[in-house]
Amino acid sequence: MENKLMEVKELLKKYKQEQLLVCYDKMNKEEQEQLLNQILHIDFEQIMQLYEKTKQPINIEKSTVEPISYVDKSKLTKEEVEKYEKIGIDILKKGAYAVVTMAGGQGTRLGHKAPKGTFEIGVGEHKSLFQALSETIKEAQKKYQVEIQWYLMTSRENNQQTIEFFEQHNYFDMKKNNVKFFIQGELPMISKEGKILVEESGKVKEAADGHGGIFEAMRKSGILQDMKTRGIEWIFIAGVDNILAKMVDPLLTGLAIEKNCLAAGKSVVKSNPQEKVGVFCKKDKKPNVIEYTEITPEMAEKRDANGELIYGESHILCNLFNIKALEKIAGNKLPYHSAFKKANYINEKGELVEPTQPNAYKFEAFIFDAFNKLDDMAIMRVKREEEFAPVKNANGVDSPETAKKLYLDFMKNKA
Ligand code: UD1
Repeated sequence: MENKLMEVKELLKKYKQEQLLVCYDKMNKEEQEQLLNQILHIDFEQIMQLYEKTKQPINIEKSTVEPISYVDKSKLTKEEVEKYEKIGIDILKKGAYAVVTMAGGQGTRLGHKAPKGTFEIGVGEHKSLFQALSETIKEAQKKYQVEIQWYLMTSRENNQQTIEFFEQHNYFDMKKNNVKFFIQGELPMISKEGKILVEESGKVKEAADGHGGIFEAMRKSGILQDMKTRGIEWIFIAGVDNILAKMVDPLLTGLAIEKNCLAAGKSVVKSNPQEKVGVFCKKDKKPNVIEYTEITPEMAEKRDANGELIYGESHILCNLFNIKALEKIAGNKLPYHSAFKKANYINEKGELVEPTQPNAYKFEAFIFDAFNKLDDMAIMRVKREEEFAPVKNANGVDSPETAKKLYLDFMKNKA
């Protein structure tokens, strides 16, 4: 322990992060050991580089951005639909299809102090997002007479609570063995002055590393291996906050296979140039997404001869990957984006600080930054009212109220 402490002190001195031991003397032996191990796991070079990047102006890359081609589901002929669906159903029937839900987030924006998936939008009796998603999977299991493996990505912050929720709800009557959880990675949060923060427990303050962390998390936690052992070839990955996500869609799988692509994505037409969604595009000939924070107003407004938005294929975070694509991506590092957030911390005098303004950087990778590792992606435009009802804000756009309406209308039309 003494040696470990010395090693940590040296390291912290080198990177001017001595504040990380501010609570050390008040901790018990076990906590001290945990803190030292946590510090030894930090890649200080990486964090310092990310911090330096926050001070540089955003680099406008000199890349060529072009619209991406897509298939409009509503324009497919009956023969095409049958052909693609048959290919996708064969994949399902041989047990080669799985679903992953990214549920690392808390419902903070919704004012919900628990895992976002436990949030109820007010449909059915106490129906949570998790329950609604489980129903989609169960319906597909019944329809195609198959068992589908469901993986859920949680975070350190919400993993325990998520598992307890599933236990309390008897895994929504799915086979327990078919539901697996894995925890996403984290990165330390850093102040404007470049100091890594200490959290209230005295440990290093870390935050989830964004949904782009999913690839590395799947590799490190053995999920990729588990998929291979089970013979899973196609994996649908979606966020937890779209209550209409159609996660089992043989048509999309068939389309990807027919187009010889290792990945596919669903899009809906952007409702207006200002809508807060990313849009699919090609960047330097590779598939990509331009985030709503990065698109220029000119690009967002640009229309074709038919009056359709040129960059109008919204990325709804419903993507399909072949296992080979996941393995390829998991071996690459994705870039991190920084966000300036409000974060409580323990200062150098050992006092708790509760800021009222953003005070710290959080670093996140985005899933779509992986798309350019692939040569192409099959994009399928689907109907918003059938597949996209996000629950993001407490009120207004993309709120429980709007999602509830979309969900109930969809259920009524289906019946
Ligand atoms: C996201 C997309 C945007 C897309 C929109 C569609 C980003 C940066 N942008 O925006 O392109 O058009 O959704 O709804 O993602 N999550 C984790 N771990 C994390 C972070 C997020 O599991 O560390 C999960 C959340 O639980 C949620 C999903 O990822 O299910 C979306 O994340 P969020 O941060 O809410 O993205 P948006 O800004 O809504």
